Amino acid sequence: MVAFTVAIDGPAASGKGTISRAIAAHFGFAHLDTGLLYRATGRKTLDGTPALEAAQNLMASDLQGDALRTPEVAQAASKVAAMPEVRKALVDFQRAFAARAGGAVLDGRDIGTVICPQAQVKLFVTASDQIRADRRWKELTYKGHKVTLDEVLSDLRERDRRDSTRADAPLKAASDAISLDTTTLSIEEAVAAAVKEIEARM
Ligand code: C5P
Repeated sequence: MVAFTVAIDGPAASGKGTISRAIAAHFGFAHLDTGLLYRATGRKTLDGTPALEAAQNLMASDLQGDALRTPEVAQAASKVAAMPEVRKALVDFQRAFAARAGGAVLDGRDIGTVICPQAQVKLFVTASDQIRADRRWKELTYKGHKVTLDEVLSDLRERDRRDSTRADAPLKAASDAISLDTTTLSIEEAVAAAVKEIEARM
């Protein structure tokens, strides 16, 4: 049986993580938030571990915890993500995950373009900068981080710029990706739109 893969890409805080989790629950697919691989790698470099060594030795236990969801780790993640050797070290794990029996959803920046170019469904999720910053600011503030909306906005823009201008696997929609702009959509509406696109391709 051919594996059924849903590839979901988009910039930071576009809603792709929320949509991916909901889709995985709806269809009973496995879900991999590939940003966690880069966040866990970036996290280790903050302690002085060389980036490639960190990427090659990731363990499941490294991928958990709120410690990965900080602005500092997000920036470190986008720096290691620009290193081709780091990306290469993480490819096999992601492709093996995508090939799981029973279907898989992977979300990230290069899933539809590089990791799973054969995915049956590719979504490219976007939202305005202001909305994305607002969502991320609420999330961070709720967790107790002291950040201003302006700091969050400039952080997201810096990360998007680095992610979309790097030479290797930049953030970009695959030519056959379906665009989903979540700026004016509720979570329920965004998920319903994604479910409809997937059902049409099953
Ligand atoms: O999705 P998230 O914001 O957690 O990703 C953190 C960083 O990891 C991104 O800013 C990006 O630099 C990197 N990343 C990537 N490719 C992916 C997923 C994440 O380069 N597939």
